[in-house]
Amino acid sequence: MERSGRVRKGIVLAGGAGTRLYPLTEVTSKQLLPVYDKPMVYYPLATLISGGISDILLISTPRDLPRFREVLGDGSRFGIALSYVEQPRPEGIAQSFILGRDFIADQAVCLILGDNLFYGEMDPFFEALAHTEGATIFGYPVRDPQRYGVIELDGHGRPVSIEEKPAHPRSSLAVPGLYVYDGRVCDFALELRPSARGELEITDLNRAYMAEGTLRVGRLGRGTAWLDTGTPESLHAASTFVATIEQRQSVKIGCPEEAALRQGLISPDDMLTRLANMPATDYRAYVEGVCRELAGGR
Ligand code: DAU
Repeated sequence: MERSGRVRKGIVLAGGAGTRLYPLTEVTSKQLLPVYDKPMVYYPLATLISGGISDILLISTPRDLPRFREVLGDGSRFGIALSYVEQPRPEGIAQSFILGRDFIADQAVCLILGDNLFYGEMDPFFEALAHTEGATIFGYPVRDPQRYGVIELDGHGRPVSIEEKPAHPRSSLAVPGLYVYDGRVCDFALELRPSARGELEITDLNRAYMAEGTLRVGRLGRGTAWLDTGTPESLHAASTFVATIEQRQSVKIGCPEEAALRQGLISPDDMLTRLANMPATDYRAYVEGVCRELAGGR
């Protein structure tokens, strides 16, 4: 599978109030809370990098943005370029494309929510990154679709309806927080009007592409884990999931350094030099192991 598609820009949306995780989020951003052995934001970051996306904008609140800068820096240690923009108020996921307008500069862009964790088979995502026209969202079967955006498909897999948190879902396909758009996305976002809850809804943006007939739906299924981290229970479950896989297989999930090394965004030598400043932890030993493997020294 070609992993270095033509979409090169990505946005991680990592703001919001994190109210459902209070008091955990009283002084810390939700997306900096630990999911087992690393901050939550590492996971979506690694997902973007694994698709060859190396120019990334992180959007968060005025309170939390300085912390993200401290944690992630300018991205050079991952072999990527990271920039930052504030979202003054949580006025909707689709506001990302208004706040990120200068960054996007009319090019195709992938958005990932900073609290969405993916693991496993991601080929539909890598395929979507090869398209720079229209938009791609994903459908993932869940037991409780009413908690999400829900997509309904016709017999040919084409989207016929998308609804945000419907009381009576028309299908079991939830829409994960991972979206790929062409360079017109900012213009579409500027046309949106706030919903009843006062937000620019990502579902309305996707509807605009659907109305035009340019919305594709990739299917993520059994081979993919898409985990929620929005409540204390789901955050704990995500940590347990990551710990189980990592301890059993000696691999790490959501390691941006590994994703960058495997994408050739940074050389093993450069990474080893940068690792010299990292405390001698399991995490560092793991990344060093990936460097040795890629340098053929195993
Ligand atoms: O997780 C996937 C779901 O994400 C989709 O299925 C839904 O269609 C989509 O609306 C969204 O639903 P949520 O209920 O999870 O949205 P929430 O308001 O919790 O926001 C998701 C993340 O985005 C959260 O970590 C906070 C961040 N966010 C959200 C808004 C509205 C921001 O940074 N800024 C915002 O203005």
